[in-house]
Amino acid sequence: MAEEKDVLILAIESSCDETAASVVRNGREVLSNVISSQIELHKLYGGVVPEIASRKHIEKINQVIEEALTEASVTLDDLDAIGVTYGPGLVGALLVGVAEAKAIAYAKNLPLIGVHHIEGHISANYIENKELEPPFICLVVSGGHTHLVCVKGYGEYEIIGRTRDDAAGEAFDKVARAIGLGYPGGPKIDRLSKEGNPDAIVFPKAHISDAPYDFSFSGVKSAVLNFINGCNMKGEVYNNADIAASFQKAVTEVLVENAMKAVKEYGLSKFAIAGGVASNSTLRQAMKKACQEQGVEFYHPSSIYCTDNAAMIGVAAYYEYVKGTRHGWDLNAVPNLKLGER
Ligand code: KG4
Ligand code: ZN
Repeated sequence: MAEEKDVLILAIESSCDETAASVVRNGREVLSNVISSQIELHKLYGGVVPEIASRKHIEKINQVIEEALTEASVTLDDLDAIGVTYGPGLVGALLVGVAEAKAIAYAKNLPLIGVHHIEGHISANYIENKELEPPFICLVVSGGHTHLVCVKGYGEYEIIGRTRDDAAGEAFDKVARAIGLGYPGGPKIDRLSKEGNPDAIVFPKAHISDAPYDFSFSGVKSAVLNFINGCNMKGEVYNNADIAASFQKAVTEVLVENAMKAVKEYGLSKFAIAGGVASNSTLRQAMKKACQEQGVEFYHPSSIYCTDNAAMIGVAAYYEYVKGTRHGWDLNAVPNLKLGER
């Protein structure tokens, strides 16, 4: 029997502040994963400035793609398809990746596959967990999204719950700013928490009565800000590490409780986390423990595949490629693209 030919996909990600390109073989093997981060630039402003992000993507994208091809030891002629994030995200930033992907696909007569950014985050779990296959429940926690998703099949998603206000990562970033840690706050709160007492301050955990899988993080964020203001007004000193640890505990507990409720309700034996906040050490430990207690297999990507990268887009693009998804030359950036929409 003839051996099946490898499928090589070049993937591009530029939805926020990382310009990234990757070559992925047969959906699960990452041959290269190049990320040019703009964090240092946006730090000056305390968050991502969309106009600056777009301009930097334009400057960096060709170089990043060339590096990804070189590192993978392939040329454009070896590729089978081009995958690209086309939403959700910052429109100007997305457009850079989409235009680049269209240009390469057109020039090389290759199939063009638009990928949903969240589908990418979820698919990051397939890279290092070769045995993982749907169905499973996935909690996607990033700077822009907090979604509890039932992954029914490759590219088949049911959104079970979502945040009603701030995303989990957004809450981390805002609390970090309030205690003077700077942007991006998630990793800094993660680190500082190790020196603090998670039971020092009781911050509220929001549960929404008619929607057990939804989240709300604006309350806990406001409670932290009120606590700091209260201390300042009374002239009381407060401990930043205790605030970080107590805030992190409140957020983690809600994420774990809702996620485990969903796993039980759907009767599935596999659970995964994804997105930037999925690299949080306390969240990982708490999820691992809760999964062990429920007899559920726990999956998570390495940190490099949690935050924005193009390898995850290449994985998602592969499964779309196999299903026959193809986009036309009219593919546009869709800043508020819904998961499961084409
Ligand atoms: O997935 P991502 O790179 O971008 C989006 O799609 O939004 O996620 C970035 C978010 C930021 O809010 C950042 O503070 C958060 O992920 N983050 C973390 C950690 N590492 C990154 N939050 C908590 N703990 C971490 N270790
Ligand atoms: Zn992301």
